[in-house]
Amino acid sequence: MHVYLNGRILPEKEASVSVFDHGFLYGDGIYETMRVYDGVVFKLNEHIGRLYRSASLIGLRIPYNTEGIKAAVCKTIIANGFRNAYLRMTVSRGHGDIGLDPALCPEPTVVIISRELREYPAEYYKKGISVIIAKTRRNLMQAIDPRIKSLNFLNNILAKMEAKKLGAYEAIMLNVDKKIAEGTISNVFFTIDGMLCTPSVSCGILDGITRGIIIDLAKKRGIRVREGRFKKEDIYSADEVFITNTTMEVMPVSSVDERQYSVGGMAKLLRGLYRAEVKAYAADIRSKGEAI
Ligand code: PDD
Repeated sequence: MHVYLNGRILPEKEASVSVFDHGFLYGDGIYETMRVYDGVVFKLNEHIGRLYRSASLIGLRIPYNTEGIKAAVCKTIIANGFRNAYLRMTVSRGHGDIGLDPALCPEPTVVIISRELREYPAEYYKKGISVIIAKTRRNLMQAIDPRIKSLNFLNNILAKMEAKKLGAYEAIMLNVDKKIAEGTISNVFFTIDGMLCTPSVSCGILDGITRGIIIDLAKKRGIRVREGRFKKEDIYSADEVFITNTTMEVMPVSSVDERQYSVGGMAKLLRGLYRAEVKAYAADIRSKGEAI
């Protein structure tokens, strides 16, 4: 594997970052995860937009403009040669002396990793995955706003550890007001009487790019959508549940704690529509000659 590090493509073994990097020392930095479908980075502009938003929310200057980021992403994909890939762009505060002051770090560290996409097992999509509601609460918006896609992932890791301990795949976190927030790496959807429900951004979540697409696709299909504040009892009484993110797309859920669900029509329908959206997007990028 080859890694993009501060403008250079290096073999994985040579791509090292300083132990004084504030990303390592303090989790001070941000990232984006993207998915490449047959040489097309899905919703690249949206991911770049969110990267800049995260940077601005932590007062970090990304040393590239949009075109520079696109060129770096492209270079990384070409260097690795994977047509279908997982792609992660990380920007840390950079290396500097010990201390919390960002001014100690003159230059951010920019890393892009691209590895061949490992699809989730087909079985997961067929049968659904098991999920728990974690005791660990989602970071308070007034503390570390979950809209910052931050390197500081301990909140999510603690919830993931709870899930693992109970043999579940994903954990849903509530916010401090006991309202449903989101999964450790995903957004949550469920249906009540045919209405698609999902926590609103004001619950303290990352407004996932997949989430936004799913909401739009559902509305276009005439499905009623409610972005709101929900209790865990709402999810227990739901007809079906699914989670979304860039790599898993739409993943059905077979259980939340003790409650079981069958893989329902809504997840199947929306997964199909999402896949069609990916195809249409890729065709459009290709027709503009922007595919890799
Ligand atoms: N995670 N919520 C959290 C906390 C996430 O970490 C993610 C994505 C999402 C979904 O966002 P999107 O639809 O834009 O992928 C929601 C990525 C996949 C990751 O951590 O690698």
